[in-house]
Amino acid sequence: MASSITIPRRLPLLIADNVLLPGSSMRILVRSLQNMNMVKGRLMGRSSLRSTIIGVIPKEQNDVTDEDLSTLHSIGTAAVVVQVTGTNWPKPAYTLLVTGLCRLKVEELLQETPYPVATVTQLDQLPDKDSDDSFIMDKELKKMAENFREHAVELIGLLDISTPIMAKLKKMLDQLPSQHLPDICAAIVKASYLEKMQVLDAVDLSDRFKRALPLIVRQIEALRLLQKVKKEKFEIVIRKEMARPSHSKKIYRRVSEDFDDGQEIDTDEYADFEQKIKLAKMPEGAHKAAIKELKRFKNMMPNMPEHVMIRNYLELMVELPWSKSNKDTLDIVQARKALDIDHYGLEKVKNRVLEYLAVRQLKNSLKGPIMCFVGPPGVGKTSIGRSIAHILGREFHRIALGGISDQSEIRGHRRTYIGSMPGRIIHGLKLVGTNNPVFLFDEIDKMNKSIHGDPAAALLEVLDPEQNHTFTDHYLNVPFDLSQVLFICTANNLAPIPPALIDRMEIISIQGYTEEEKLHIAERHLMPKQLTLHGLSPELLHIPTDSIKLISMECVPLIISTH
Ligand SMILES: Nc1ncnc2c1ncn2[C@@H]1O[C@H](COP(=O)(O)OP(=O)(O)O)[C@@H](O)[C@H]1O
Ligand SMILES: [Mg+2]
Repeated sequence: MASSITIPRRLPLLIADNVLLPGSSMRILVRSLQNMNMVKGRLMGRSSLRSTIIGVIPKEQNDVTDEDLSTLHSIGTAAVVVQVTGTNWPKPAYTLLVTGLCRLKVEELLQETPYPVATVTQLDQLPDKDSDDSFIMDKELKKMAENFREHAVELIGLLDISTPIMAKLKKMLDQLPSQHLPDICAAIVKASYLEKMQVLDAVDLSDRFKRALPLIVRQIEALRLLQKVKKEKFEIVIRKEMARPSHSKKIYRRVSEDFDDGQEIDTDEYADFEQKIKLAKMPEGAHKAAIKELKRFKNMMPNMPEHVMIRNYLELMVELPWSKSNKDTLDIVQARKALDIDHYGLEKVKNRVLEYLAVRQLKNSLKGPIMCFVGPPGVGKTSIGRSIAHILGREFHRIALGGISDQSEIRGHRRTYIGSMPGRIIHGLKLVGTNNPVFLFDEIDKMNKSIHGDPAAALLEVLDPEQNHTFTDHYLNVPFDLSQVLFICTANNLAPIPPALIDRMEIISIQGYTEEEKLHIAERHLMPKQLTLHGLSPELLHIPTDSIKLISMECVPLIISTH
């Protein structure tokens, strides 16, 4: 895996609460300001392998919270960041999945802010199939290595080889050159922070064998003891149960299940996915892709970084509403009433919306232009979209396009990309859980072109009924049928929208309101809404009509559009 990687001389450093040993993977919660800066400044949005290599340095003590760089530990691990997961809302929080490549020594700290960067020296070779033989050990070291390997084999033997993961681990250890064994074994056994740190600090290989061996021996003894106790307990329980004549067989089975190591969890996970794939009723292509991924998942060691990535993919595949939909409940008379309750005035707009929906219902298809509400802020464009979903009895999902300048926001990132995610369409479908929701593309005039592509082009494909039944998100990599989704757009201004997009749409313009209308909306709609929202009754808060008039004359559009 690592043969093509070179460790750069200058590396950004991540200060970790845990010891990462070469050859193993771990998750690191990013909490401190410096680590957060590193993730944002260095990892987000980059996709070259070189830019994802960082130095992971354990804290001198894992329980201190501040990072005093003057006491920076001098040995660390060069690691590749395989996945960044996280959120920016309500506040940034990230988790990194990192895989250790080799030891490094921190030579000189070049900068401390916004995140530390240092020159480093690589201390051990990367695992590389071609150079295995070139590692020469003297007689004594060889003996140590052999002894260590024997213990490693014994350790694995005590684990349950019947599960595919353990069988894989065993195979991997058999093939691994001896110099890599201490790190890998120390990473999988129970050991304290200090003990792991000592293994990391053992730059000299014979030292490393000496440090890691006692940890393995201790684990072997613990496992043996556990097995013995389990067996004794098991025999006692069985003897008791056998003494009772009835349903002894059933009990025997149950008890033996109780005493299993819990390793079944993994096999259960596969079965669980298998079942969910069946229930999701995917189209043939998607089904095949899911089964193929599940096979890869089964044959992969859980500590491989890709394991998490495939699991995320499978989880999305089984959660998508491939064949779940809501039944339309359009009753034009009721719909008119509902629109009137939610919105005051807007006669023309309401009539046009109802006509539009009635025609769609008659034709029983959604082909045709897309409604686009255009008007100044605060006139109810977004909220009419919501009402439409309500009167159709469909789910509603709003996709805010303001400020978007990257195609992948719509179409997703390829899965090879670090921290890759599906685009907003597929994400929205997962959230609503049905394949025929109302999707509101809000503020399509606020999208921009950029070096990351033109999001409007991606949107065109989504809105085109001739193409959108085979919409393929880059992350999902199989088509999802969007033809049952009802798309609605809104914009403040038509000028920035590309003509090709305008061609697809029926523009419904909403003008501003007269002073009287504003007053009515403020008194009858906005005030009651705000009162219930804040748990107040009209007796507790009363604003005189004159004051509302004054406010509405000046700034109702503003007030309206800020909530
Ligand atoms: N005609 C109206 N009748 C009742 N409430 C309205 C009306 N127009 C706007 N509103 C309310 O004003 C608020 C802002 O409207 P919103 O849909 O966000 O505006 P826009 O998307 O056009 O900027 C919402 O709470 C909406 O319900
Ligand atoms: Mg809006």
